[in-house]
Amino acid sequence: MVILSKDPQSDPVSGSPTPGEDAAPQRSSRDATCNTRQQTLYNKKIERIRIKDYRMLRGITYLDHAGTPPPSATLVQKFTKTLQADLLPNSHSSATADPNLSYRKTEETRLKVLQLFNASPDHFEVVFVCNATAGIKLVTDAFAGIPEGFDYYYHRDSHTSIVGVRELATTAHCLVSDDETLEWINNGFQLDEKRQEIRTTLFAYPAQSNMNGRRLSLSWPSSLRRNPAHSNTYSLLDASAYVSTSTLDLSDPSYAPHFTVLSFYKIFGFPNLGALVVRKDAAHIFNNRRYFGGGTTDMITCEGEKPWVARKKGRLCERLEDGTSPTHSIVALGIAIDTHHELFGGMESVAKHTGWLARCLYEKLAALRHANGRPVCEIYKDPKSTYGDTKTQGATIAFNIRKADGSWVGSSQVGEDALKRKIYIRTGSVCNPAGTAHALGLSTDDLEELYLNGFKCGEDSDIKYGPLGIVRVSFGAVSTLKNVDEVMAFMIACYYCELTIFVRQVSGVWLDMEWSHTYVFLSREKKVEYIRLLSLL
Ligand SMILES: Cc1ncc(COP(=O)(O)O)c(C=O)c1O
Repeated sequence: MVILSKDPQSDPVSGSPTPGEDAAPQRSSRDATCNTRQQTLYNKKIERIRIKDYRMLRGITYLDHAGTPPPSATLVQKFTKTLQADLLPNSHSSATADPNLSYRKTEETRLKVLQLFNASPDHFEVVFVCNATAGIKLVTDAFAGIPEGFDYYYHRDSHTSIVGVRELATTAHCLVSDDETLEWINNGFQLDEKRQEIRTTLFAYPAQSNMNGRRLSLSWPSSLRRNPAHSNTYSLLDASAYVSTSTLDLSDPSYAPHFTVLSFYKIFGFPNLGALVVRKDAAHIFNNRRYFGGGTTDMITCEGEKPWVARKKGRLCERLEDGTSPTHSIVALGIAIDTHHELFGGMESVAKHTGWLARCLYEKLAALRHANGRPVCEIYKDPKSTYGDTKTQGATIAFNIRKADGSWVGSSQVGEDALKRKIYIRTGSVCNPAGTAHALGLSTDDLEELYLNGFKCGEDSDIKYGPLGIVRVSFGAVSTLKNVDEVMAFMIACYYCELTIFVRQVSGVWLDMEWSHTYVFLSREKKVEYIRLLSLL
């Protein structure tokens, strides 16, 4: 079994804080405390924005922003106005308009995307794809087309869509920790002794874990670049979770990954569109891509012995955007970028605000204890990350809940309980197979045994040796401090045990082992258990 990566701050054995004590680790200079004036004022501004722009959030507590945030009314209204006013022809139809408005708007939006990430068009190109996964597949297709194949290294905290690349690689290795990743980056290929020549290699990792929101080092691509042993290694950064509440800064190309993928709906809620941002010096990799779709070729023959194709040679978007481009989504994206900035005052403000909320909730959850002193939550925080420090931690908290007797509440049960109170969270293994397994202390053998016994991801019976899933709360630009309070009210009402009685005797009869170790819970919504015990007495 892998050692359970539990939060040392909520561990009673390792000297945990008592309620009221400061559970927070060291603060960075950019930190906010739970009620600073500046944060409170910004929070008020968001409350006002919610009333006008997010009517769908009325009466509910939405905390699955890592899944998708909702779109603002302003964005949707501006978009429908544009659709009503402008004719947007197929961008391949040059005779429809001059200049083709779809083409023009697409190019404007491409530039806006580069500006969003401080990326210079001299060094980067934007390729529109339908989501981050499609961007990953485009990169994979190119590497898979290399005649000698490619080797693949990916970090343990990767999303399923990054893990899947390994099926097309010649060899694949999961880097199970930051230490192993650094060792591999610094010392080249010592992990693979048989390696004779410098083979083409792809290294992929997330900028932020979609499981617990920890942020990984953004300097790994530049470290790889500096090591001659990695002269043929390319980096693929999955920025999907990171960009939703943070600015991705690609202003220094020497630091930037070769390929960056993301889904825009994770930032703006709409449109469902993604991007692959390619450093121009890595564009040649796409010469290996085998597939071609409409719009990416100069000439094709189909009949005869040797049909051939002349692919477009110019910009990457012309070579890689197969088929009719999603013009309406691209137009919506341009509006979304501007509207989001107008509403929230830029990504820096969003990062500070959401980091502050996550820290407030983390501190409260870490401090929450049953009357017998046992922590209510086991929080899966990475030991190196710090809530409130936007460099190391995003606005996501992953945890599980224990009753006062130490037994687990299944994550799907928590999801159901939450939904009854109109609290929207995510539960399960959240498409992060290795990160979640590590946090839960589940080894490959455990997972195999579970699968053979009929367990599948996302199923309800999610307690076996321990929990098989996690509870994930994630904040977004439109979250407020009230959401933190709502989660805490839910936790206290459903899981916090005010009174614990250790029962030894019922009606003068000593209880057997099973009953004598039973705690009686008296929480506000668990009166039934208490009443059951009274009937025994
Ligand atoms: C970190 C991360 N990577 C990749 C993805 C896949 O994104 P999409 O489903 O939009 O392709 C997600 C989606 O949740 C994610 O959180």
